[in-house]
Amino acid sequence: MAIVSAEKFVQAARDNGYAVGGFNTNNLEWTQAILRAAEAKQAPVLIQTSMGAAKYMGGYKLAKNMIENLVESMGITVPVAIHLDHGHYEDVLECIEVGYTSVMFDGSHLPIEENLEKAREVVKLAHAKGMSVEAEVGTIGGEEDGIIGKGELAPIEDAKAMVETGIDFLAAGIGNIHGPYPENWEGLALDHLEKLAEAVPGFPIVLHGGSGIPDDQVVAAIKLGVAKINVNTESQIAFSDATRAFARNYDANEAEYDKKKLFDPRKFLADGIKAVQGAVEDRIEVFGSANKA
Ligand code: 13P
Repeated sequence: MAIVSAEKFVQAARDNGYAVGGFNTNNLEWTQAILRAAEAKQAPVLIQTSMGAAKYMGGYKLAKNMIENLVESMGITVPVAIHLDHGHYEDVLECIEVGYTSVMFDGSHLPIEENLEKAREVVKLAHAKGMSVEAEVGTIGGEEDGIIGKGELAPIEDAKAMVETGIDFLAAGIGNIHGPYPENWEGLALDHLEKLAEAVPGFPIVLHGGSGIPDDQVVAAIKLGVAKINVNTESQIAFSDATRAFARNYDANEAEYDKKKLFDPRKFLADGIKAVQGAVEDRIEVFGSANKA
């Protein structure tokens, strides 16, 4: 099975009341951790790169080849989609060119007509190559100075029009935001999600900003139609917490640190990477996609 486009397994999640994870990768070890978690849990996954993360790693071609090669060398058997997260139009074209198997065109900053028109073009190009397409209406913001208590709500009419472009799954704001949720966050707008899902019956909805949403709200959102959930910050925090704890452990014992050669990045990063795998496995369980490969 291994590398596939995502429309079939995301639709299967929607039809059967669970969600698959769209896990952002940042480097090689991160990719290994996500793949290990998916294989251990027998879950289909999307491994996604933001534009910035792909650039950081050396470009789309490198990112795509790295994921593809790891899937092969690790003997991964579960379905894995290589997905572009929040891509600008030109970046989407590049990912289609280099062979990602799924792309998100994010035209949410554009006037709606232009967003729809570009989404139609992306659908035509991506589907011709058998790739799946995600697009976004409204905007999904991030926390700034802790003052955002309420994420944006996507206009229902825009969501309906976007689904008609032929995309495979739809990102729409339901009070969610990227990054850590501020103390004063009001929670997911499940009533808005319900209206959205009624307007696009049976269509898979994507929940961005999946880190830090209480599990009961995640489960409620899945029941209402969310079939893909994006997670990045949660893995980053797990990595950073474990790495900091590892380092702190040797603060008072530099001699042992040197003796064990823990400065070797393969040792220094091991706890952090294990924590990423743990965080991804934990989310897969909550999303209900374990044993759905
Ligand atoms: P978090 O970083 O909040 O998990 O959001 C990830 C995301 O939505 C990527 O598109």
